[in-house]
Amino acid sequence: MAAKRFAACFLRLVLISLLVAYSFSLPLNWRSLYLIKKVNREGPYIGLITVFPPEETAFFQIGAFKPNQKHPFVDLSGRRFLVGKIHDKKVVYVRCGVGMMNAAAATQQMLDLFDILGIVHFGIAGNANNSLSIGDVTIPQQFSHTGIWDWLNSNRSLNYDEASLDFKRYNVPRGDNLLGHIGFRYEQFFSEYGKANTARPLFWANTTRQWLQVAANLKGIKLNQCLNSSVCLPQKPQLVVGLRGSTANIFVDNAAYRDCLFQTF
Ligand SMILES: *[C@@H]1O[C@H](CO)[C@@H](O)[C@H](O)[C@H]1NC(C)=O
Ligand SMILES: *[C@@H]1O[C@H](CO)[C@@H](O)[C@H](O)[C@H]1NC(C)=O
Ligand SMILES: *[C@@H]1O[C@H](CO)[C@@H](O)[C@H](O)[C@H]1NC(C)=O
Ligand SMILES: *[C@@H]1O[C@H](CO)[C@@H](O)[C@H](O)[C@H]1NC(C)=O
Repeated sequence: MAAKRFAACFLRLVLISLLVAYSFSLPLNWRSLYLIKKVNREGPYIGLITVFPPEETAFFQIGAFKPNQKHPFVDLSGRRFLVGKIHDKKVVYVRCGVGMMNAAAATQQMLDLFDILGIVHFGIAGNANNSLSIGDVTIPQQFSHTGIWDWLNSNRSLNYDEASLDFKRYNVPRGDNLLGHIGFRYEQFFSEYGKANTARPLFWANTTRQWLQVAANLKGIKLNQCLNSSVCLPQKPQLVVGLRGSTANIFVDNAAYRDCLFQTF
């Protein structure tokens, strides 16, 4: 009897906690969805995504972003989507956070919930091409996810989709080591234009052609050589449109791997 009463009591407690959790999460979500509906009535928007605070700070410092007076932002899943304009273009901006998971989640959310024409993802990048320098701006025509690996012992054969990396080739002094080799795999790309539930292998993802043409019109644009009166780049920064970019969940500051990426891809 006591056990039964305990069970009933426990169940009620669980139900109450569930309801409390529910009432904390749902109305907020409803409010956001209601806000998005109102925001979308004034759309469509260009989506803007950065990754981490230094990029965001630089973006806001130029003062081009003007928040929407009525609906300045929408909070969703812990991220703040800012609504506003740059010159006369309507934009929705979000800082997604470090890593491919955050990039994908924020991008998908933006595309699914807002009325979006397309997304410009911008920020700091490393460079594998010696003809580019610090301060240059580049808009790639293709992007690859180079972080999907099979990492194998040296004695396993590498017969890989796109490319591979043999660690022993980078040994100093020359010789084998225990790191073996990696094979770069294709991304599994799901698309609304493809067959449902069927991923397509993808290595190079294309930038939208029309947007790349718009970007190409920016060639020759004058970029600032100086941060202020005392800090300047040794040469004039350039804008380069149309190379290839690579991304992964790995921050790379490593000359050998940089050379491997450049030579291989
Ligand atoms: C390296 O960058 C320059 C532009 O600065 C470009 O002309 C060249 O094709 C690039 N090299 C490769 C292999 O992409
Ligand atoms: C391959 O390497 C692993 C680990 O070094 C070892 O255990 C295994 O016996 C090797 N296989 C062959 C076929 O040599
Ligand atoms: C990307 O563009 C290239 C050339 O413009 C084309 O050959 C390739 O099929 C495109 N890739 C995809 C996945 O659409
Ligand atoms: C210029 O910018 C650098 C880097 O932000 C800073 O350390 C320096 O104090 C600035 N100098 C002037 C004169 O504003």
